[in-house]
Amino acid sequence: MSSYENYFDDQAGKYLESSDKGFWAFLRKKEKEAVLQALEPFEGMRCIDLGCGAGYYTQLLLKYSPSLIVGVDRSFAMVNHLKNKNILRAQADIETVAFQKNFDRVLCAGALEFLDSIDPFLVNAKALLAQDGLMTILLPKRGIWGFIYKFFHWSHSVPIQLFSYRNLVNKLNKYGFKLQEITCPTPMTYVLKIVHR
Ligand SMILES: C[S@@+](CC[C@H](N)C(=O)[O-])C[C@H]1O[C@@H](n2cnc3c(N)ncnc32)[C@H](O)[C@@H]1O
Repeated sequence: MSSYENYFDDQAGKYLESSDKGFWAFLRKKEKEAVLQALEPFEGMRCIDLGCGAGYYTQLLLKYSPSLIVGVDRSFAMVNHLKNKNILRAQADIETVAFQKNFDRVLCAGALEFLDSIDPFLVNAKALLAQDGLMTILLPKRGIWGFIYKFFHWSHSVPIQLFSYRNLVNKLNKYGFKLQEITCPTPMTYVLKIVHR
């Protein structure tokens, strides 16, 4: 098991609770607003939360009465926190997870930075996203705050990647996506609103 799987398994029990406290709660609120604005959730949508953790965003999306909602995470301890029977849980890798149906809305919040490369993820996301669907990605910005975040994870032996804006746009273009909008809800984070090209 890799260091980040150990880390997230250990964090699972307290993950949601800690996001409601102090400075993190403040950041979460800003990020949440930007994520929901970019994702444009709607009633009856089919949606998937890739790297869902303990379900912070999965639970939020459930409020829109989706016709299908799936939470995917590599950490069993994390997906085990998705208790609502209407949420389908998948302990799987976001680079390879596959379904027979595609999704109107694909969300990946705070998970891409743990991948060595975003290429396999984008290939898979393309298969998951419906032709007229929207994908939203929340990820740390490359910059001083991103490096502080990187240091934080480095301190418990979890490596993360920081992607530059140019690199993200190039990769999205390469895999047939178009970046429709980018926002920075906090000095640490980007929220990308992405469509099929
Ligand atoms: C920082 S947490 C974010 C969780 C959740 N999206 C949130 O906003 O609360 C990152 C999550 O991504 C998951 N993750 C990282 N790499 C993954 C991969 N390759 N496949 C599936 N899950 C992954 C981790 O297990 C962890 O639960």
